[in-house]
Order: sequence, then structure tokens, then C-alpha cells
Amino acid sequence: MNADGRTRLNQTPEWTALAKHREELADTRLRDLFAADPARGTGYTLQVGDLYIDYSKHLVTDETLRLLRELAAATDVFGLRDAMFRGEKINVTENRAVLHTALRAPRDAVVEVDGENVVPAVHAVLDKMAGFADRVRSGAWTGHTGKRIRNVINIGIGGSDLGPAMAYEVLRCFTDRDLTVRFVSNVDGADLHEATRDLDPAETLFIIASKTFTTIETITNATSARKWLLAALDDEAAVAKHFVALSTNAEKVAEFGIDTANMFEFWDWVGGRYSYDSAIGLSLMIAIGPDRFREMLDGFRIVDDHFRTAPAEANVPLLLGLLGIWYDNFHDAQSHAVLPYSHYLSRFTAYLQQLDMESNGKYVARDGKQVDWQTGPVVWGTPGTNGQHAYYQLIHQGTKLIPADFIGFARPVAELSEELKAQHDLLMANFFAQTQALAFGKTAEEVRAEGVPEELVPHKTFQGDRPTTTILARELTPSVLGQLVALYEHKVFVQGAVWNIDSFDQWGVELGKVLAKRVEPALTEGADVPGLDASTKALVATYRELRGR
Ligand code: F6P
Repeated sequence: MNADGRTRLNQTPEWTALAKHREELADTRLRDLFAADPARGTGYTLQVGDLYIDYSKHLVTDETLRLLRELAAATDVFGLRDAMFRGEKINVTENRAVLHTALRAPRDAVVEVDGENVVPAVHAVLDKMAGFADRVRSGAWTGHTGKRIRNVINIGIGGSDLGPAMAYEVLRCFTDRDLTVRFVSNVDGADLHEATRDLDPAETLFIIASKTFTTIETITNATSARKWLLAALDDEAAVAKHFVALSTNAEKVAEFGIDTANMFEFWDWVGGRYSYDSAIGLSLMIAIGPDRFREMLDGFRIVDDHFRTAPAEANVPLLLGLLGIWYDNFHDAQSHAVLPYSHYLSRFTAYLQQLDMESNGKYVARDGKQVDWQTGPVVWGTPGTNGQHAYYQLIHQGTKLIPADFIGFARPVAELSEELKAQHDLLMANFFAQTQALAFGKTAEEVRAEGVPEELVPHKTFQGDRPTTTILARELTPSVLGQLVALYEHKVFVQGAVWNIDSFDQWGVELGKVLAKRVEPALTEGADVPGLDASTKALVATYRELRGR
């Protein structure tokens, strides 16, 4: 028993029951499960909003699912969920509420933090964003010289970049194609250089996105962007028309020289990786327009409501979270692949990497003690068909178990020509063929029956039993994107709740930040930085020599 009154996770009877069940299922094959239950292909499915979820190709039975739900009940996942939605400070190490769900709450909802309803402030910022986005889109907001804004550059990193950058790609077909929208995150000057080199400063708006407004990469890039602008416009007053800020920190925004009237606020109860439906989404809103942005928020809300109210047996985020736990903790899977069969979702997995790995990459439990069970998996993946010709070999025949999510759409996006739309069936034929092959493989008998020489039979045999979830929607819309993101947000929540970790802090990234600041003078001035280890000292010396210092 812990200080928080919870038994250590892997000592609970529910955990022990799952471990035993895993042993009992050791020889169970997906082929057998499908043979035993002809209705499995339709029975092991759920619907949430526009998302059809097929989990039949998982190494689970009704009993597995029941035991997993018992684990969720024993770890009070729904209790923590309700506390989150109520605005309780479940981010214990930072003593903060976790209320990204309030960002998409309807105007008349009441969500209180410290006795104050936050929903009116959420909608006030959304309205302010909409007004600004409309002015930029219509040309009413001009640059300092009176020229129309044609380029929007979001400068931010981590959660202040990945969300809007991902969503902009996903919703490209809904964007104003006359606007150039780019995202700069890397402190490597090449990023800003490439983003600005062909642009007219008089037509360029910079959106500086930083929750803290102290992140060194973002402030460095923003400072360089301001110099680039002023080198051309040569008037400090130009900053007011070409720079806006998205932040929780008005003081630092003002210190940087951005008028706080041009600041779009959010709050400490919005985690960076959960923030792109807050003011952090301004670049996206300018690109797609306020109406589409609100459609996206509606999509988030559909899944929020589902997660909050659906019973355990029909609760999709709960199911996906528990399936991940089944593989992570009881099959020793180290990673989880997310494989979208949509070119527009090309940055979706990169976005999920931060969402999942920054949330659940923790070895200390909420009780302050080290966990002795596995927590968050390595999340990886790229659009499906490209992956097929690169790393799928390892998923099919490698020695590691890699559960995967396949995400696809029944219809191609409307903007494509008829000829290009016709390619969609081939894309999706690959999708269905892959999940089938991963699940059922190909037996040695089947290979022999094709006349394959005996020495090649083992090489051409596929074991199968590679588990996948299929997520299928009619088409990719702003609402569907919101639904997908909320689905993963809540899946990550479920897993953090079961593992008893704080999914909403990120202390692990702080050490690197502090050290980088300390090491910089050694690089630039050759300063003798105390505390440098022998390896780093030698590397710095070699760097300086190669750099010509
Ligand atoms: O990488 C750490 C982190 O704090 C992320 O959690 C966050 O999204 C990112 O840095 C950017 O932070 P900010 O928005 O404060 O600039």
C-alpha cells in the first residue's frame, strides 16, 4: 500500500489476473479467435462520432477485455477522468488543473477552476481570434506599409508548434490557398532562413507562440525575425503590425516588445501538448477560417462527451488505452506505430509523439516512488504506403511485437481531380491488405501450396498475430481531425491513470534546457564552464577547433 492509499499497480489482484490470463492465452492465434467466432469482425467494433473502430484484430478475448476493464476500475480511471473534467488539480506535481476539455466546451457550459467559471474567458479569446483571423483573411489587417498580409509564420516549439503545424497539413484542402503559412521551430538558423528567404517582410505576419514566453529557441527565433523585419522596414512601430503573441505570460510578451493588445491568451491549466485548440491554434484559424476551426472544436467535443459518459464496455478511449496496456505491460511491446493512410496526416504521428511520450514517458509514479512496471511506449510511424516500402518488413517478420493503429478514410478529399480520386481505392486496398496480412500471416502450408521451394518456405512464411486497430471515417474533415486528436488525448489519459503517473508535467525535459544555457558560453567564448564532464569538455574543444575559434 502507498501513501496515497493505492496498492502498487503490479501487486493488485487485477494485475495478477491479467498476467495469468496472458500465460493462458500464450498459444492463442488470431486465426483461431476468428474461426471460433464468425461475428468477431463486426462484434469487436465500436463507433464514436464519425470514427468506426475495429479492434477485432487484437490478441484479446471477451475475458481479456473484462480483466482489463477491471484493472481500469481498480485504478479508478473514471474517477480521475471526472476529477479532470471538474477542474480539480490532477496535475499534482505542478498543482494545476488539466482542462483542455474546457477549450471546446460550449458557450453555456460551466467549468470552474478555483471557484471561477473559465468558459466565458475561453470564448472571449476564441472570439478575439476569430475577429483577428477574419481581418487578416479579408485584408483588413495590413502590414506597416499598408500592404496586405500574404504570409503567416508561426514561431514556436513543442506544443506551440506541432499541433498547429500538424493540423495545417491535415486541413490543407480547407485553407486559403492565397496565404502562405509556415512553421518555424528549430533554433538552427536554417529553419527561419528557409521560411523567410522568399518572402516580402512588408507582407509577413509573425505569430510568436509560447506558453511561457521564456523558451530559448522561440525567443531566439522571434528576435531574429524581428531583426529581419526591421532590416527591411526600418521602423520599430512596424512590430505592432507584424508581430502577435500567443501566451499565458503577458509580462514577458510586453518585455519582448509585443503590444499585449495583440496577445491571445491561454491559461496554465492548458498543457503545451494539449494546446492547439487554444490560442495556440491562431495560425491554423487564419488558414482555415473561424468556422472551420469551430467545426474542429465540435469534433473534439463529440469525443469528450463520449469519454465522459460512455459505459466502460463502449468507451473507445478507455478501450484503446487498455489495449495499449495489454501489449506494453503483458506482451513486453516497446513501441506503438501509428500509420495513417492519408497524405494529409503526414505529421500526425509526430504530433502524437509529443502528446504520448511527453505525457507518459515517466518512471516516477504519483506517489513519488519509482514504478516497477512499464509506462509509455515509443510512438512512431509515417503515412502507411510509404512505410510499407521501408519499415513494414520488421513489423511483419521482425522479432518485436509492434501493435499499430491504421487510420484511413473511405473518401478522398473533394479537391482532388477525378483521376486522382480514383487512386484512393488502391491506397485503401493496401490498408486492408496490410492489416489482414499482419493479423493472419501466411502458413507454411499455404506457402508450399504455391510451389515455393522448400528452402524458401521459412522465409516466405508469416506468423501473423501482429495486432492492429483500424480507425475508419467517411472523410477527413475539421470535425474528424478534432475527434481523432481528442481520442488520442483521452487514450493517453487512460494509460497515465492506470500507471499512476502524472501525465501532465514534463520535468524530464528541463535538465537539458538548463544544461544548454550553461554550456553555450563554453562554445561561444571558450569560457571554462565548471561541472563539464571530460567527454563534453573534449567535444566542446573539438567543436571550437572545427568551428575555427
Ligand atoms: O519541451 C518542453 C516544453 O515545455 C513543452 O512541453 C512545450 O510544449 C514546449 O516546451 C514549448 O513551451 P512554450 O510553449 O512555453 O514555449
